[in-house]
Amino acid sequence: MAPKKILLDCDPGLDDALALLLAHTDENLELVAVTTVGGNVALSSTTRNALQLREYLGFDSVPVAAGADAPLARPAENAAHVHGEEGLGSLTLPAAVLPPADLHAVDLIIDTLRASPGTVHLIATGPLTNIALALRREPAIAKWAASFVIMGGSFTRGNATPAAEFNIYADPEAAEIVFAAGWQVVMVGLDLTLQAMATPEIVRRMHLLGPLGTELVVPLSTFWTNPDGSEPHGQAVHDLCAVAYITRPDLFRSRPAAVEVETHGRFTVGMTVVDFESPEPNALVPVDLDVDGFWEHVLGAWETLSSRHPRA
Ligand code: BDR
Ligand code: CA
Repeated sequence: MAPKKILLDCDPGLDDALALLLAHTDENLELVAVTTVGGNVALSSTTRNALQLREYLGFDSVPVAAGADAPLARPAENAAHVHGEEGLGSLTLPAAVLPPADLHAVDLIIDTLRASPGTVHLIATGPLTNIALALRREPAIAKWAASFVIMGGSFTRGNATPAAEFNIYADPEAAEIVFAAGWQVVMVGLDLTLQAMATPEIVRRMHLLGPLGTELVVPLSTFWTNPDGSEPHGQAVHDLCAVAYITRPDLFRSRPAAVEVETHGRFTVGMTVVDFESPEPNALVPVDLDVDGFWEHVLGAWETLSSRHPRA
């Protein structure tokens, strides 16, 4: 079967970097473009991180385009307290030589989807600003995307606030546009992603990947919870789940739902209000994960790169 083409809109970000690594290594995926957005850290840093990861991993021919540096209607939030001031925790990658693409992320998203309708899967693992801007300019992208998967939201509680998950909280007006665009949003939210933790046992297996593991995967997976491997619950790898969903939806049990985004609530702004009983669903919400199958899939894909990685 031909690999599935994907465009990844992201804000690297520890777990965005892991998502990029899976997008690059899963032999059933073809990464065709990367777009960046301000989120975990400022746009200049998320773009620099994406460019450095591209060269470190060697997908030099895949365009990386910078997008929105601020949310649609409110000041930028960040998550540097989780991802570190530069966005990739303790990791220092060599400076990138190749520049970003000479067009805005919104144009790259529209052009890529327009060029082959029905074949490119769109994944968003940061605030939804670029996607909302693309929909405003070209609503037909909602028809052209082969599927649309986000990491964001939740149906129980949040992490940025008790009610709101970070990616939705950072730009709720953009999220509102995205959920109302007439496509099915696969909402890989916190309730799902918190099932897939990089526990000490998983981190031990990451070390077995050789230099790719010790230089890249382990630092990205242990920065804020368990640098010494002693935290039993491990670190979350949210965005990785969204990329895994494209080739392995069988690992997820998902339910249709109508999702609305709260944009005004004093205590609830950024909340995704999920109605599993609605007769008019606009979303598919993964609720349960085959955790062992997920890690077999992810570590198996990374092993393939490990064996051909220049530093391995
Ligand atoms: C999401 O927020 C970011 O900090 C992570 O990269 C992930 O996309 C989790 O709430
Ligand atoms: Ca992210």
